[in-house]
Amino acid sequence: MSSSTVMPMSLSAACAELGRRAAQALSDKFPGNAAIPTELSLLPASKPEFGDLQVNSCLQLAKPLGQKPRDLAQLVLSSIAEHPVVAKAEIAGPGYVNVFLKDEFLAHCLGQIARDSHHGVEQLHAGKCVVVDYSSPNIAKPMHIGHIRSTIIGDALKRVFAAVGYRVVADNHLGDWGTQFGKLIVAYRLWLDEAAFARDPIGELVRLYQKFVTDEKAQADSLKLQRPTHAGDDEDDDDAGAQVTPLLASARAELAKLQQGDEENLRLWKRFVTVSLAEFDKTYARLGVSFDTVYGESHYHPRLASLVEELLQKGIAEQSRGAVVCNVDGAPAPLLIRKADGSFLYGTTDLATIEQRMRDYQPERVLYVVGIPQQLHFQQVFFVARKMGFDSSLEHISFGSMRFKDQDGNYATGSTRKGNVPLLDEFLDMATEHAAAAAKQKNAELSDEEVAEVARVVGIGAIKYNDLSRDRSQDINFDIEKALSLEGNTAPYMQYAYARLRSIARRAATEGMATADAVTITEPAERRLVRRLLDFSAAVETVARTARPHHLCEYLFDLAGVVSNFYNEVPVLKAEPTARASRLWLLDQVAQTLRHGLSLLGISVPERM
Ligand code: ARG
Repeated sequence: MSSSTVMPMSLSAACAELGRRAAQALSDKFPGNAAIPTELSLLPASKPEFGDLQVNSCLQLAKPLGQKPRDLAQLVLSSIAEHPVVAKAEIAGPGYVNVFLKDEFLAHCLGQIARDSHHGVEQLHAGKCVVVDYSSPNIAKPMHIGHIRSTIIGDALKRVFAAVGYRVVADNHLGDWGTQFGKLIVAYRLWLDEAAFARDPIGELVRLYQKFVTDEKAQADSLKLQRPTHAGDDEDDDDAGAQVTPLLASARAELAKLQQGDEENLRLWKRFVTVSLAEFDKTYARLGVSFDTVYGESHYHPRLASLVEELLQKGIAEQSRGAVVCNVDGAPAPLLIRKADGSFLYGTTDLATIEQRMRDYQPERVLYVVGIPQQLHFQQVFFVARKMGFDSSLEHISFGSMRFKDQDGNYATGSTRKGNVPLLDEFLDMATEHAAAAAKQKNAELSDEEVAEVARVVGIGAIKYNDLSRDRSQDINFDIEKALSLEGNTAPYMQYAYARLRSIARRAATEGMATADAVTITEPAERRLVRRLLDFSAAVETVARTARPHHLCEYLFDLAGVVSNFYNEVPVLKAEPTARASRLWLLDQVAQTLRHGLSLLGISVPERM
């Protein structure tokens, strides 16, 4: 037997090696049988009493090989039982093989992770690119809660993708082009309040826009114009042939001038974009979020006319009552890409955006972190993009809505305008203030500066974690008390677990206690903690695969629970020096894993709290 005596580098390398050996043993016995894979899977055991790893394949292979599962299991068992990482292996039930790994091997794996700059996360996607399109708020409007969720989830995904080796392009697809600009330009010229604009530019732009809408409606009523009723604020003005108010007529004229490159209108538009972006940037700085590119919709405008023509020529698009549409199999409606008046739409821009991304990055995946209401839009856009020949994986990373308590204490989706949804800054201020109060109460030794810093880290962390710790498809009832609670699956709980580990390390250092550079497993509690630490890379990979950050939160929450039990099971500072040194090293690994894991979610940790 050519068994290597060198230990495999990692748990996954060991699994692969054992899996290949087992497969080899079967194909030696049943040569040329196509049912035997090149590697049997070794899965994490479902219960501690089943060992560390389990082989279930013998049950599936029994039939094609015409054997009893337990006989196959016996072959598998003999092929791996002597491997240097295996302590023992046994056959269980109808034909499972349970594998128990040696403690020294688990300790060795943890040592590898400790020395690895990627913290044991395999660079499985090196050389591939992923584009993450997130945040993407609209100019001249405040970010709403959907943009905030997109910003938080998108930023976490960006970090996780980079951790598994992807080259990540983070793009903020700003809504900086659209019919609202004609109205804004008119309103700005007529009614601007300079002082208000200087104080709160987005607030003033929103006021101007709303004034336009109300005044225009009043004008229509007084002229007794017949008009269709519209939903939402971005009403579509394309009711060909209908009479229009003077206000609306001038907004359309200004929009047309803007789109034809009129200098004065472009200057105003640029101004709206600049002031809005400056506001958004303050929010991003507060959240610690950044982008690689901020192209925005306007960037693609020059390409739209020719793109529509090309799609018509290729038969991907067709004329329909003066407009141009792309039919989408299985969707309730076609994608509209040019209106009868010649203007282009959100979907047209998205097609041009995909085209540029494919050309510039050849990404393996493109993720759009946008709320559930845009599901149909992405279904349509992705369908047309595939017809255009783009074969990257295009994924709508959708998420549910967030509900806030209204005056009566009931949860409602509501809107910022109705006053029951806080603006982002108020939302963050609220979390930070709550966190400051809690920090003061919890630890009287903290200086004012420390309290402010803890409050910032905990407040922002709580908002992010509250979002990331649930499956993104769910709606969230936002409860500030729960988000900031020190108990349960919350950022403060995780941050406190970290700070406690750091405080133990400080105590040890102050008292001159030595720390080892590896763990020696002597107690079940130590083994449990080591085992859990080795699962970090799998949790990160799961998030990358599913684009669901809550899997990492679940892992970290569980790890924090295991370490909190550990304190009750074995002494650390009071242990005898050899065990103490080993445990101090082990706890340092836990601290690093928590810190690293939280940083992949965009969450910082305080050294004390
Ligand atoms: N600006 C859009 C909105 O606020 C989101 C854009 C998302 N990204 C995209 N490529 N469509 O609804």
